[in-house]
Amino acid sequence: MRVLVMHGPNLNLLGQRERDIYGETTLEEINQRLTLLARQYGVEIDFFQSNHEGDLIDKLHQARGHFEAVILNPGALTHYSLALRDAIAAVNIPVIEVHLSNIHAREKFRQRSVTAPVCVGQISGLGPYSYYLALRAAVELFSGEQ
Ligand code: DQA
Repeated sequence: MRVLVMHGPNLNLLGQRERDIYGETTLEEINQRLTLLARQYGVEIDFFQSNHEGDLIDKLHQARGHFEAVILNPGALTHYSLALRDAIAAVNIPVIEVHLSNIHAREKFRQRSVTAPVCVGQISGLGPYSYYLALRAAVELFSGEQ
């Protein structure tokens, strides 16, 4: 099984940006831990970060036929990108939406996700564990080897 982890805008600054909200863990550290977990689960994992909506959409299109599941933190695109939402709906790959912070406990504009309705589920508010649990779920739900 191959899992693609996608990080949207500004997530490259994790560990430096608004640490009271997003914590001290860097994106590199999250990816390293995911790599270790993937090894334990016996699955392949790949990573992609972009600050550009179109690049994320292109990557999702290219994922067809190469990945059995996607873990996606769309960053602020979560709240307004209908183009990203349409891409998720179009590609026919199960996408799990993740957020480090609990978007439902934050500003009103963050409480709505336009992408979540076309994802299989959403994990929000558990810091880096949102990603780690998403990987576990992806493996258990979509590896097709259960
Ligand atoms: C985020 C939440 C979004 O509202 C925000 O724009 C981000 C990060 C999170 O992981 O908590 O960039 O997706």
